[in-house]
Amino acid sequence: MKQFTSVNDVPNPKQLVESALALKRSPAGSLKGIGANKTIVMLFFNPSLRTRLSTEKAALTLGMSVIEYNAGQGWQLEFEEGVVMNGEKAEHIKEAAAVISQYADIIGIRTFPSLVDRERDYADFVLQQFMQHATVPIISLESAIRHPLQSLADWVTLEEHRPVHRPKVVLSWAPHPRALPQAVANSFVEWMKLADVDLVVTHPEGYELADTFGQDVNVEYDQHKALAGADFVYAKNWSSYRDYGKILNQDLAWMISPQKMALTNNGKFMHCLPVRRNVVVADGVLDSPASLVIEQANNRTYAAMAVLKAIL
Ligand code: CP
Repeated sequence: MKQFTSVNDVPNPKQLVESALALKRSPAGSLKGIGANKTIVMLFFNPSLRTRLSTEKAALTLGMSVIEYNAGQGWQLEFEEGVVMNGEKAEHIKEAAAVISQYADIIGIRTFPSLVDRERDYADFVLQQFMQHATVPIISLESAIRHPLQSLADWVTLEEHRPVHRPKVVLSWAPHPRALPQAVANSFVEWMKLADVDLVVTHPEGYELADTFGQDVNVEYDQHKALAGADFVYAKNWSSYRDYGKILNQDLAWMISPQKMALTNNGKFMHCLPVRRNVVVADGVLDSPASLVIEQANNRTYAAMAVLKAIL
């Protein structure tokens, strides 16, 4: 694997899931040699708890060195060609990406969307600029439109709890007080299309995903109907793609509650975290044995290990 920015970079996604599961079973000491004398530089333009810590843990477990840089607090980057740099932006992406490549064998980047400029966000502009100007492999730590490390960990978690039958997996929009990216939902759908599951997406009208992700996906606007018989319920808020970046609905009736989970087939609850309790999901679900959220976060480490191993 040459880079990891979407499922399209993965030659065999199912094999990558199996690799993560195998790494989870491996004694940590046996893995140190894989990343010896290799360095990952992780750039964070935006906050992170799980991605930052799990990817660092993954790299250290493989014997890599880790350098982290809060890029959002560093020199402001200029991305435009031929610009006269006499404003606030102190460094051009051309030098920045080339310089970081001198220190890194792999570069990880977290960069959120503007939620204002849909065209630029959906071109995954910042990530693409680093891919263009860096000379080492890039992995996405969540970009403007995708979160592939999360989706890989979600698939790993699903395999650990897969029933004997083909599972029904429901991605449900949930309310949130702030406008959030579509990245987790986009990515989840993109990966689940390959995971041998019956995928249903449910959301209020106006929250349809971009065609790139939403085409050929079964959408059910009635959340109760969607949840009927579900084996897995993945809750997530996202802002509108159509009315780009807007919150169209904060209807708490869309929150995942114990009553909603009672409609499922003894379903498991999933969320990428961080999660707003009693807004996105009720305490009674999050604190129940049906909740897989902590194991999802744990599996972020093994997902990152599988990706780093494949690239190394
Ligand atoms: N799920 C996830 O990516 O968490 P962080 O934003 O804390 O990294």
